[in-house]
Amino acid sequence: MSAGTDTQLGIDVGGTSIKGAVVDLGTGELAGAIRSEPTPETATPADVVSAIGRIASAVDWSGPVGVALPGVIDGSSLRHAPNLSGVFEEDGALVCLRAPDGANAVLINDADAAGLAELTYGDAGIDRDGLTIVLTFGTGIGSALLHNGDLIANSELGGLEGTNGRFEEIASGRAISTEELSPVEWAQRAQPFFDELEAMLNPSRWVVGGGLSENFDRFASRLELSKPISVAHLGIHAGVVGAAVAVRRAGRGAAGNAAQ
Ligand code: BGC
Repeated sequence: MSAGTDTQLGIDVGGTSIKGAVVDLGTGELAGAIRSEPTPETATPADVVSAIGRIASAVDWSGPVGVALPGVIDGSSLRHAPNLSGVFEEDGALVCLRAPDGANAVLINDADAAGLAELTYGDAGIDRDGLTIVLTFGTGIGSALLHNGDLIANSELGGLEGTNGRFEEIASGRAISTEELSPVEWAQRAQPFFDELEAMLNPSRWVVGGGLSENFDRFASRLELSKPISVAHLGIHAGVVGAAVAVRRAGRGAAGNAAQ
């Protein structure tokens, strides 16, 4: 498969696994099986390029790929990426991901990718409802701000400090599994996070993605919120789908390699 049809390979680089699939850009559904491999303990850019190459050849893909990364893409380096190797923070670290003879990637923050997928294929109300805050609970906590149909990138809300530490450390999907938190215990930690965001940003709705989307009802029902909360339309695949959409948004993919 290759660029030229209305499909696109999207890859989500997480702190735990690197997964990818060919996405049908018309519907947002996966057009093939998800391929996944564990993220090496201290994944370097070169490790990630190799993993992307393996996934691309497993699905027989050639052409640009969309890649969602767990950090802020800042020129040629990545900031705020505690779950990847520190090499990502060096100047030029992302060059091999973008290079046509490397991963040939269009890059986007992973939570922004989930937000972009939501904007493109989710509930139409998102386009007109003021501010939607998308929170992804996985190895960390990612965030995307969707305002009247636009994505405001790089919000990094999971880095906020609560009285017991950074929320992405104490209330992430990883904290739930490593500390075996019950829904009630998780909600005690997460409630102040939602309260603080509500006070600062006055969202009109919340969307939850990442690993927590698989147990959304059990956990989200424990929160006390004044505005509606729903699970990400594309569930745990939102990052993969949004990464694929990012390629089209950059004017690449099916339309050719016109722009970055
Ligand atoms: C990173 C964010 C990312 C989130 C979820 C955080 O550690 O700083 O950029 O969106 O993890 O992966």
